[in-house]
Amino acid sequence: MDFKNELERKINVVNDELHKYLEVRYPEIIFQAMGYSVFAGGKRLRPVLMLASCEAEGGREEDVLPFACGLEMIHTYSLIHDDLPEMDNDDFRRGKPTCHKKFDQGVAVLAGDGLLTYAFEVMLKKACTDFDSKYVRAAENTARLSGSDGMLVGQVVDVVSEGKVIDADTLAYIHKNKTGGLIKAALMNGAIVAGADDRRIAQYELMGEKLGLAFQIMDDILDVTSTEETLGKPVFSDEKNHKVTYVSMYGLEKAKEEYLKLCREVNEIAGKLGGEGGFLQTYCESLVNRIN
Ligand code: IPE
Ligand code: IPE
Ligand code: MG
Ligand code: MG
Ligand code: MG
Repeated sequence: MDFKNELERKINVVNDELHKYLEVRYPEIIFQAMGYSVFAGGKRLRPVLMLASCEAEGGREEDVLPFACGLEMIHTYSLIHDDLPEMDNDDFRRGKPTCHKKFDQGVAVLAGDGLLTYAFEVMLKKACTDFDSKYVRAAENTARLSGSDGMLVGQVVDVVSEGKVIDADTLAYIHKNKTGGLIKAALMNGAIVAGADDRRIAQYELMGEKLGLAFQIMDDILDVTSTEETLGKPVFSDEKNHKVTYVSMYGLEKAKEEYLKLCREVNEIAGKLGGEGGFLQTYCESLVNRIN
């Protein structure tokens, strides 16, 4: 397997499908705003992980694509809302002006709402067309991990904790949910769509929890060590918003150590699930050297 080519192929498959879903139609402004943020760039981490776990469990790419695209829409909605003046108040995302800067705040709120709702339209259409309870389960899992047991509740605790002293457990709760929620959904849904058994799905869940936490720790690190040019979003956003992060709580060195420890654990699980040197494991391994 040529890892680089395969990664590019997976990203292209996802992008081609997203383009079909997000064709501009009346009322143009909302599809333009949704498409603007979805196609502004982005690593496509979550859809790639979903395609990879589906593949590792012997599932078909065409079956998992609506769920992979739906999750990327939900992720993009979370970024649009996260950047709003009422939240992190950032003006730059994926190397371009944020949605509310390019359009206006009202349109940006609606573009987020639009992407969230459209994601479920796309996923449930698959469940209605090829009726199989595993598709309904994947849609339910997405809803839960985007909302009441994942990204939403993590973002809530993140926002209400601004400027406050919080303990280590609260910080872990924020990171495991605001970022871990969608990463867990990505890894689990690939396995669910492939028809994996509950024991294996639980392994993907554990892997997602560790990778989600690791990913947000590195996001906190990059916020103070990288540049706006490399990240495509502002640096020192956390300090500006008086957020407690892994860096502010433990220091840069300890945060890096924790990141590397979690990456090793993720790699080990990925090797067991998808095989040593398989796409899933190689992709996770590549995240150790993440720069954006
Ligand atoms: C950014 O996610 C928000 C976090 C959860 C840390 P990504 O780093 O995956 O952002 P994109 O999709 O590549 O823009
Ligand atoms: C946000 O965390 C995670 C989301 C659910 C959007 P951050 O606020 O640290 O993400 P960035 O740094 O703006 O991408
Ligand atoms: Mg935020
Ligand atoms: Mg932010
Ligand atoms: Mg951040």
